[in-house]
Amino acid sequence: MNSISHIPKAEIHVHLEATITPSLCRKFAKRNKVILSDDFFGSEYAYQWEDFYDFLKKYDIVTSVIHTPEDYYELTYAYLKECASHNVLYLEAMVSSTHAKAKGMTYQSFLDSIQEASLNAERDFGIVSRYLMNGIRHLGPESVQGTAEEVLKNPHPAIVGFGLAGDELHFPPHLFSKTFDMLKEENFPITVHAGEWDGPENIRKAINLLHPTRLGHGVRSIEDLDLVKEIIEKDIVLETCPTSNIATKIYENYENHPVKKLHELGAKVTVNSDDPPFFNATIQGEYEAMSKIGFADDVLISMTRNAIEYSFLDNQKKKEVLTKLN
Ligand code: ADE
Ligand code: ZN
Repeated sequence: MNSISHIPKAEIHVHLEATITPSLCRKFAKRNKVILSDDFFGSEYAYQWEDFYDFLKKYDIVTSVIHTPEDYYELTYAYLKECASHNVLYLEAMVSSTHAKAKGMTYQSFLDSIQEASLNAERDFGIVSRYLMNGIRHLGPESVQGTAEEVLKNPHPAIVGFGLAGDELHFPPHLFSKTFDMLKEENFPITVHAGEWDGPENIRKAINLLHPTRLGHGVRSIEDLDLVKEIIEKDIVLETCPTSNIATKIYENYENHPVKKLHELGAKVTVNSDDPPFFNATIQGEYEAMSKIGFADDVLISMTRNAIEYSFLDNQKKKEVLTKLN
């Protein structure tokens, strides 16, 4: 039992495919006859990568062992079980239909498996979970548009929102404005990665062109206090991922990470693990790190409340989860 075990937690920024542990990775590789050299496994982090772009490449290689709906079931159930053991009440994870379809799964089959794992984990451990479909920026605007159209045409109970991930620096917001206008028109909940790698100018564009109610990371907004003010005024929640940002060398350590300052300025923040084994991150580790840099328990609980309140869960279920928190 660590010092943070008693704090109820929630996570709204984690890439489901990236939760794969080395043991599941080896198991799926064997089952699906994928040869994955030992070089992909690391000592500092569970998987080897050099920098962010190398991370994106290795991410694709490591997750390429996930081939079937059964793999998705096992992956989802395992992560939910782990989170529930650390008092996580609610989880919202990003998934990629581009990945699933590249491996031959149908849109319906991989989502049905995730949904089954979600329901079984809720029955077995009490953890509630929902999922966001991610468009991948560096696959280009047409790919993201196709992903979003499929989501809108095929409503699935597991999918409650749309996200945008990938290479933020080389694929700026304006490229995707048509897709996000379409999502907004349909009142489909939106979160986008912005302000992880790129600075205030493109965070502003992401807010104004892509209509998010949450920002993935958003931490580089600290470089422009007027932007922080705009984020607060527009009531946009920040899905911060401190350990991820330190691993990718955006910030040196937790003390230098802007999460505390953003909170002090009045921004609504949450903490999240992003790509857990790639960065040796865990959701309980994030809460623990925040406790160590001076966030009091009641503030940590308010982060959990932010995550649930600004989640894309339907109102009735949200009330149920908030009741557990209160
Ligand atoms: N996809 C997976 N992890 C990501 C990250 N940290 N930033 C952008 N895209 C990602
Ligand atoms: Zn992310």
